[in-house]
Amino acid sequence: MEIYSNNNSSFKIDRYPETTLSSLKPWNAADEYIVSFIEENKLQSPAIIINDRFGFLPLALQNLNPTIIIDYKSQEKAIVKNLKTNNIDTNNFVFSNILSSENTNLNLGIVKVPKSMELFSLYLYQLSQMINNNGTVLCGFMTKYFTSSMLEIANRYFGKVEQSLAWKKSRLLILSEPVKKQDESLTETVSLPDGEQLTQYKGVFSSKKIDVGTRFLLEQLTIGENENTILDLACGNGIIAHQIAEQNPHAELHLVDDFYLAIESAKTNLPKASCHFNNDLSDFQDGLFDLIITNPPFHFGHEINIEVSLNLFKQTCKCLKTTGRFVIVANKHLNYSTHLRKIYNQVDITAENKKFQIIECRNSI
Ligand SMILES: C[S@@+](CC[C@H](N)C(=O)[O-])C[C@H]1O[C@@H](n2cnc3c(N)ncnc32)[C@H](O)[C@@H]1O
Repeated sequence: MEIYSNNNSSFKIDRYPETTLSSLKPWNAADEYIVSFIEENKLQSPAIIINDRFGFLPLALQNLNPTIIIDYKSQEKAIVKNLKTNNIDTNNFVFSNILSSENTNLNLGIVKVPKSMELFSLYLYQLSQMINNNGTVLCGFMTKYFTSSMLEIANRYFGKVEQSLAWKKSRLLILSEPVKKQDESLTETVSLPDGEQLTQYKGVFSSKKIDVGTRFLLEQLTIGENENTILDLACGNGIIAHQIAEQNPHAELHLVDDFYLAIESAKTNLPKASCHFNNDLSDFQDGLFDLIITNPPFHFGHEINIEVSLNLFKQTCKCLKTTGRFVIVANKHLNYSTHLRKIYNQVDITAENKKFQIIECRNSI
């Protein structure tokens, strides 16, 4: 738990999920820069906050009663937890999503710039529709992550783009004069080897192409005759479940992802499957699945962290039938098999190439 205070506010804040990596903090200098810029320039609500992962900005800017865009289930849980820790009523805030058309005529948009420039582009297009003609959008980022595409994207959606001076190695883009473009597509397509196409929102994993690890997994994948209840864990656009449906059209398919735009993409690609917006397996009863399959996450924006995946691996064990199997594709260097041997009785590397391994885990021998 960390404590933040400035002249106007003081609060406690923690990361969720918790981490043992002490270098990972619940806010950075760009957050503080955003808050001081708003206070100094007396920027007013109605305001909207986008891509704040743990709730620093809603806590520091409570007086604006901002709308909070929720992109990740883990983000929603983190923000609610931190508001409650500080005895702040969650009803003071509107929680919304980036695809909603209800956020209009706003005076202030606040964005923590994401690593994915496609997601940044989706955020700014949506904001250009939400902000009124006299409104301002502040985009905060650490200077080391600056790329020229940030400016290109900002100039596409706003008539005036200014850069602040650097402060504690962070900087702001200050955008005004929104360009009200119409009908820009928020999605893109991914072509599969058989010529079929999947749709995904901008910013969803592995933009416009199949990830090399996923491709390797799909080349090896054979679904057993008795594997009927199947979970695609950390599903992204749903490509793995989609291929499973080709092999076994009668399988009961469940998909789960922490990212709202991933789950919304998966719903489009697999209209008959059950898609779960969640960052854990709490939606599923024990012993449900014949097969759980995943290309697990280890990049979270600019952060690298295998703790999230190890935590998911632990949960898979309970949700599998006693005869079930858990299949993972992973970069060899992550050495997941060592971790998995602490969870499963039987862990086999069933295929590998220079970069990736397919690991199969079971608890029945
Ligand atoms: C490596 S991508 C794989 C996506 C897709 N299965 C594919 O192969 O293209 C990992 C996915 O994990 C999701 N993710 C991250 N943390 C998660 C969590 N705690 N629970 C579920 N999904 C998570 C990310 O949003 C991302 O879509």
